[in-house]
Amino acid sequence: MAIRSIVTKEDSVLAKHSRPVTEFNERLHILLDDMKETLTASGGVGLAGPQVGVLRRVVIVIETNVPEEEEEYFIELVNPEIILEEGEQTGPEGCLSFPGEYGIVTRPNHAKVRAQDRNGNFFEVEGDALTARCFCHEIDHLNGILFPERAERMLKPEDFGEE
Ligand code: NI
Repeated sequence: MAIRSIVTKEDSVLAKHSRPVTEFNERLHILLDDMKETLTASGGVGLAGPQVGVLRRVVIVIETNVPEEEEEYFIELVNPEIILEEGEQTGPEGCLSFPGEYGIVTRPNHAKVRAQDRNGNFFEVEGDALTARCFCHEIDHLNGILFPERAERMLKPEDFGEE
């Protein structure tokens, strides 16, 4: 596995639409493994293909809503689609491609995703709170949509306690 560099907001790749994955091969597995390692190293909770310069519909999300004695775990999503949204949450959101920038974004509080795994098998997964926010944020990346476009306002440094 290898840590890949995360592209930042100046890079036009982030505004592009990603193509579906059609081959569930070794190359895809390496990409997903690298994305997991990159996400772990970055301290984030979600990462999408375009953020490592790959315009393919792949996302990694860390499920952080686990009981205290259990480990957080990765959710690998290939060709994901939101199939159900419920409720609403409004709160601060950031992005590994926008270091130090946060905005107030309203997202569903619960989301159900249909996706394929690394071998092409379809499955569904649900998430609440941060996980639902993350599903929506990362799938937006696959469509070239970045969180400032969704933000009702961006936070200023004094809003989150930095000078
Ligand atoms: Ni992001």
